[in-house]
Order: sequence, then structure tokens, then C-alpha cells
Amino acid sequence: MKASDLIVPIAITQTAAYPGMNRVLGEIEAHNRGIAQRSTELLGDLTGDLLSDVGQTIKSILQGASAIAGGSTYQAPGDLGTDSCGQETCCVWSYVVRELEDAFRDSNGCTSLARGAIRQGFHDAATWNTDASYGGADGSLLLSDELSRTENRGLEEIGAQTRMWYNKYKEHGVGMADLIQTAAVVGIVSCPGGPRIRNFVGRRDDSTAGPTGLLPSPFQSAQSLIELFAAKTFTASDLVALVGAHTASTQKFVEPSRAGAPQDATPGVWDTKFYSETLTSANSTTIVTFPSDRNLATYSQTSGQWKVFAGFSGQSTWAPVSKRVRDFGAV
Ligand code: HEM
Repeated sequence: MKASDLIVPIAITQTAAYPGMNRVLGEIEAHNRGIAQRSTELLGDLTGDLLSDVGQTIKSILQGASAIAGGSTYQAPGDLGTDSCGQETCCVWSYVVRELEDAFRDSNGCTSLARGAIRQGFHDAATWNTDASYGGADGSLLLSDELSRTENRGLEEIGAQTRMWYNKYKEHGVGMADLIQTAAVVGIVSCPGGPRIRNFVGRRDDSTAGPTGLLPSPFQSAQSLIELFAAKTFTASDLVALVGAHTASTQKFVEPSRAGAPQDATPGVWDTKFYSETLTSANSTTIVTFPSDRNLATYSQTSGQWKVFAGFSGQSTWAPVSKRVRDFGAV
């Protein structure tokens, strides 16, 4: 595994050691309040003793500390392109985040670009497991031809948009891997109810296409999904929390005749209706439930956790209270 060149803190994300799986979702935050077993496994150079302050922070998060961002705000010291802005890593990111937010939220909640960004963050990161010597959250999804793989169908719009943002901001030091993961984090908090997760930048870009066969299929059994995610250091409970991202999901290719159908009744909102509606088949005339999600909802090792999220206090267990969307300074 490559060393994790950690990392300048800017705001949000439970980014694991650099090439590893990005624990992009704040749901994991819920580990003390309902998830029976959460992975605390460390990756890459986080397993060593010589850590920067940021490395130490990320290690703590992976071992159970909160990944939720505090209420602090960042005020850019100057306009993009000025010397004063160039001297602070956070400055360019404050401009990036503002542009992302404008694209990710409208009067219905989070937009199709936001849901694409959330999925895109997962698909860049998930081309990795503990046997892989490359891949992961390295930007290769958009720096190589990975996007043309079958499992990445549906990511064309957000992929094209992200490449435009990259071309606009790269001269100011923005990398593709960081941009993809930052967009995922901003996508989540743009959905009403979505947590505001700490983010870190400093990943190394790689234009080598990641290993194949490491992304899940919507037709996979629960057991094989558990094994796929275990190889990325996630427990079965982590997996149940992660697929909750389908609260903000729509599909085109699982049931092509119902292209555009969501996976719960409120795809613009970060709520737990996805869990309850998958379980009960509620709204089945308007939503499409993926076989993989139904498998996880009913399998012995995952159904208990699924029911916790579907239940009365599911929302507070799954998604920590969100703070304000806008992260940087006054607008
Ligand atoms: C069991 C694991 C998973 C499977 C089998 C799976 C599969 C899929 C499929 C088939 C689609 C619809 C693609 C289409 O037809 O357009 C989709 C959409 C989506 N997935 Fe997953 N996924 C999984 C886990 C995740 C995870 C871990 C995340 C995020 C962290 C995620 C986020 C999303 C989002 C946000 C969408 C909606 C994209 C859009 O509406 O444009 N998924 N997923």
C-alpha cells in the first residue's frame, strides 16, 4: 500500500489513509449509538508511530472519535489568484466549496449532481482492498478511462462536471482525488439532514486505472457484499450504514424501464426512509429497490442493523445532527 501523504485539514470527511477506502459517510458516526460493530482498523502509514497532527486526527477518527465538523468558519484572506489566497491551502477550497454548493442544492433538497457526486466519491475510493497495491481515492476514476466501465454507468454527468471544476481550479493547487472526495462530502451535507463531515485534502493523484472487480453489483448476495466490504476494512454494520447513501439515490440501469426512479420516496433528503421502505416495500410503485439492498435488509448478519436504522430512532442513530451547510466564511 502506498504511504498516505497526509494531509491538510480543511473541513470535513472521514478520509482514511490516503489510497484506502474513503469512509465518506457520516453515518459511521453513529457507531456508539446503534451499530454493533464498527471497524477501527487502521490503514497504510496510519499504522506507524510517526504521524503528523493531521495523521493523528485521522487515526483518532478511524478509532472512534467524531468525524463531524465543528461550527467554525473559514474566511478567505483574499480573492482567488491573489498571493494571500495562494498562501493558505484552505483558500482555494473555500471557492471550490461555494461553487459545489450552488450546484448541489435547490428548492427540492440536493440535486442530481449532488447524488452523482456522492456515488462518484464511492466509486473512486472503492477500487481498492487490502490486497491492492494501488487504486482507491486517487482521482483515477476521472484521470483514466475508468468511467467507461459498466459499473460506472450513470456517472457521466457528474464526471464531466467534475472535470470542468478540476480544469478551473487545478492551477490553484486542487487535485482530482481531493476534488472528488470533497464533492462527495459537500453533496451529502447539501441534502437536508445530511451531516457536515470533516474533510481533509492532500491525496496523491494517479492516472492509472484502478483494479477491476472491487465495486459491488446491485444483484450481489448479502454474504458476498459483506466479504467485498470486509476486504476494504468495513464490518457488516459499516456496510449497512454506507448503503444508506441510497437515501439520495436514483437509478437508470437496474430497471431501465423505470429510469429515474428513486430508492426511497425522498431522494432529495438525507433521511432513513430508504431503510424502512426497503424493508416494507412501501411505495413500490414509485421506487425501485435494488436486489442487493433487499438482500442486506433481510440477511441474518445485517438485518438487525438495518432494522435499527429503519426504526423509531433510526435517523438520530444513522445520521448525526447536521449543522449549517455553508462551511467557509460569509457569503
Ligand atoms: C452494496 C453496495 C452498493 C451497490 C450494489 C450499489 C449500487 C448502485 C446502483 C446500481 C446504483 C444506480 C446506478 C444507476 O442505475 O444509475 C446506485 C446509485 C447510487 N449509489 Fe450505490 N451502491 C452501493 C453502495 C453505495 C455506497 C457505499 C454509496 C455511497 C457512499 C452509494 C451511493 C449511491 C448514490 C448516491 C447513488 C445515486 C446516484 C444518482 O442518483 O445519480 N452506493 N448504486
